Amino acid sequence: MKRASSYMVAAACLALAAAASLSQVQSAPAASSAASTGLDYEFFKTKVQPVFLTKRTGHTRCVVCHTTNNAPFHLVPLTPGSTAWNEQQSRQNFTLIQRVAIPGSMDSPIVKHPLAEQAGGDPHHGGAQQFESQADPAWQTLKAFIMGQKA
Ligand code: HEC
Repeated sequence: MKRASSYMVAAACLALAAAASLSQVQSAPAASSAASTGLDYEFFKTKVQPVFLTKRTGHTRCVVCHTTNNAPFHLVPLTPGSTAWNEQQSRQNFTLIQRVAIPGSMDSPIVKHPLAEQAGGDPHHGGAQQFESQADPAWQTLKAFIMGQKA
């Protein structure tokens, strides 16, 4: 019985938390949804997306796998014949990236998963350890994004 009631308290708390975050979303002006998450859309569009499109020696480009596989990191497929995402696609990507980009957290999969294990990354990534060290400028861009850098 004691157990059941603590579950109920937990459920009530969750409901409250959900209500609080909903009202936050509703009160925020549409254009600043990025501000409410701490992630900057312009920085994402102009600096982060190119990281996903760049070929690294010995590796496949992020965009090749992550538009087609079912990993939590998912990107919109490029329009055939085009080498970059358009505005609408970039906005979709920005929404999708929030599954693996936790504002302010260096545990975000987007920074840990493609980073070499000896550099502090995860031990295995289907797309390989594309960044050998945290000094890699492209990795630094991913980190800056997580840390809320503005364009
Ligand atoms: C050869 C295909 C391939 C390429 C290229 C690739 N990945 Fe992946 N990625 C995978 C697969 C498969 C998974 C799911 C299995 C796993 O976790 O390794 C994955 C998972 C992920 C995840 C999700 C981790 C999680 O579980 O939340 C992230 C983030 C990620 N990749 C980032 C990247 C980044 C950034 C690049 C480019 C620098 C990249 N990947 C390139 C195949 C790829």
